[in-house]
Amino acid sequence: MSTTPADPAALLALAQEVARQAGELLLAGREGAVSALATKSSPTDVVTEMDHAAEKLIRTALLAARPDDGLLGEEGSDIAGTSRVRWVVDPIDGTVNYLYGYPAWSVSIAAEVLDPGSGPHASGEAVAGVVLVPAAGAAWTATLGGGAWRDGRRMHGSQARSLAQALVGTGFGYTAETRRRQAEVLTRVLPAVRDIRRSGSAAYDLCCAAEGLLDAYYERGLNPWDLAAGGLIAREAGLLVGGRDGRPASHDLAIAAPPALYAALAGLLSADPPAGQ
Ligand code: IPD
Ligand code: CA
Ligand code: CA
Repeated sequence: MSTTPADPAALLALAQEVARQAGELLLAGREGAVSALATKSSPTDVVTEMDHAAEKLIRTALLAARPDDGLLGEEGSDIAGTSRVRWVVDPIDGTVNYLYGYPAWSVSIAAEVLDPGSGPHASGEAVAGVVLVPAAGAAWTATLGGGAWRDGRRMHGSQARSLAQALVGTGFGYTAETRRRQAEVLTRVLPAVRDIRRSGSAAYDLCCAAEGLLDAYYERGLNPWDLAAGGLIAREAGLLVGGRDGRPASHDLAIAAPPALYAALAGLLSADPPAGQ
């Protein structure tokens, strides 16, 4: 059993190569998906096929290189490891965009390091992450303590100082009840900011906030695979990433904003009660 996790730069290099391979598979598969759409009973079937194929490629490649690692993927992979490294994977973040050919879909891969003694399925701290947007040929990366990068350029987030001047990204869940609540929150946020953007890929939104293409981002209902890589990239760009009332970002609420905007945005969002209340 290996007990020393690899260094973050090596984990990132592996993640980047595997994301590149998945991106190629997905770009090629999209052409098939479009023609298959005409004949399949449900568009969702086609997308699910590509989601699963990409997750399988990613899982196979990562675990071939590092067989002792664990892996959590949106499409059902939940493998316990012994190395204290766990990969967290969203093979397509932005599945609806992928289906339509709208370019904002991404491959998100993060490596977490688990605390010594934690259970094999425990979550840990992200130490390396890549978000690749294959249709744009763009990739954002980060390692813990090593900064956030895009194509050799270091990311520093937005310099905006006022929420009224802020372009704020967000996203919406899939269920009607979640969306009703998200629409209510928007009635408070929209009048208070410059404008709102909804790309359809949370991982990409977090990278846009890291780069300053958005001034800030928030969403409720995210899962670990939506947040793991993009959250690290946003933090390493100098953004604060958190949840409700000073807690860590979670399914309940995730906020990513520069320090100058964080408190004002968090204050607006705190009026939205946690799910179930
Ligand atoms: C979704 C996207 C979307 C966000 C949803 C996610 P998926 O992921 O990230 O932007 O608003 O909350 O579920 O289903 O396309 O992997
Ligand atoms: Ca996702
Ligand atoms: Ca997905």
